[in-house]
Amino acid sequence: MVNDAPRPQDDALVPMVTALRWQRDVVAAAGSPVAAEILQAAGDDALQGGVLAAELSGDVRFGDFPGLRVMSAVHRLALERQAPRVAMRLPTLGGTAPVTAGDRAAFRREVISALAADLPALRASLGHTPQTNDPGRAALLRCALSREDPSRRVRLREIGASAGLNLRADALPGKPEIEAGPLPVILDRLGCDLSPVDPAATEGRALLSSYIWVDDVERFTRLGAAMKVAQRISATVLDMDAVEFCQRLDVIDGTTTVLWHSAMWAYLPEETRAGLRGEIARLGAMATFGLVVTRWDGSPADGQPRLIACGGSHGTDIRLIPSA
Ligand SMILES: C[S@@+](CC[C@H](N)C(=O)[O-])C[C@H]1O[C@@H](n2cnc3c(N)ncnc32)[C@H](O)[C@@H]1O
Repeated sequence: MVNDAPRPQDDALVPMVTALRWQRDVVAAAGSPVAAEILQAAGDDALQGGVLAAELSGDVRFGDFPGLRVMSAVHRLALERQAPRVAMRLPTLGGTAPVTAGDRAAFRREVISALAADLPALRASLGHTPQTNDPGRAALLRCALSREDPSRRVRLREIGASAGLNLRADALPGKPEIEAGPLPVILDRLGCDLSPVDPAATEGRALLSSYIWVDDVERFTRLGAAMKVAQRISATVLDMDAVEFCQRLDVIDGTTTVLWHSAMWAYLPEETRAGLRGEIARLGAMATFGLVVTRWDGSPADGQPRLIACGGSHGTDIRLIPSA
């Protein structure tokens, strides 16, 4: 089942079947065999001119990840009890994964008939940018935050924030082994998305849940916990393009502005990427300077750049980073 073909560029147009097969191989290699069966079923149907062929035909932009969109459609139908025979096979919903060849073939047939029974749901999912708002990524954000000056409060900003779960990174689980020290206090949390999701609404919760790979019980549980955190800690996600959001962003003396994005870049057209690079450079130029030191001394930190101190651009307000 493994495909050795090189990964196409995000902006490349590829046949839908190629995108579905690539996604199938990714989820299979990542240990999600039930998700792989869903993509196998969709790809087979498309290739064989089956009931979904009209929906799953033509060329698609690779970086739009249509395979994730098909998986989400199936997961959502099962979550909303419209596909009980599929749901009983999904680990995220407490089901038993099909193992024998016969069970797997029967599962693939159930997947196709569930999608064929609700083509508007499939179309809606194919037309929707994946909203995999993964709170697991907060561990990386925490890693970065732990290297900021803990005495300065942080204005946390996120582009492509989806439901803004990672804007609550300080209240989400991290990995202590990659954190350099205590996290600074978060002063406020603001993000943007072209299609913000409300993690408190039933619709939003169903949408976010549907993008979890159907084998991944751990991620499903983590998402549920993060959605609860979101009820406790508020954050605002504006309905706004990332470039406009950055154009409106400034830095404020005495605070640290952290601008974060994850799993968004692939979805952006080159024009947006160029706009963002320009805006981020503008913000960077307004920020204070950092003193970064790299030592090659054979220690565990050998070759790792470390922020030692920061200050104003003309040598004013120089402060040592306490965790340095
Ligand atoms: C895969 S999700 C990732 C969500 C979140 N960053 C995370 O890592 O959990 C990608 C998000 O980027 C958003 N997005 C795509 N293009 C955007 C743009 N030009 N401006 C703002 N958001 C955008 C999508 O709506 C979607 O919510």
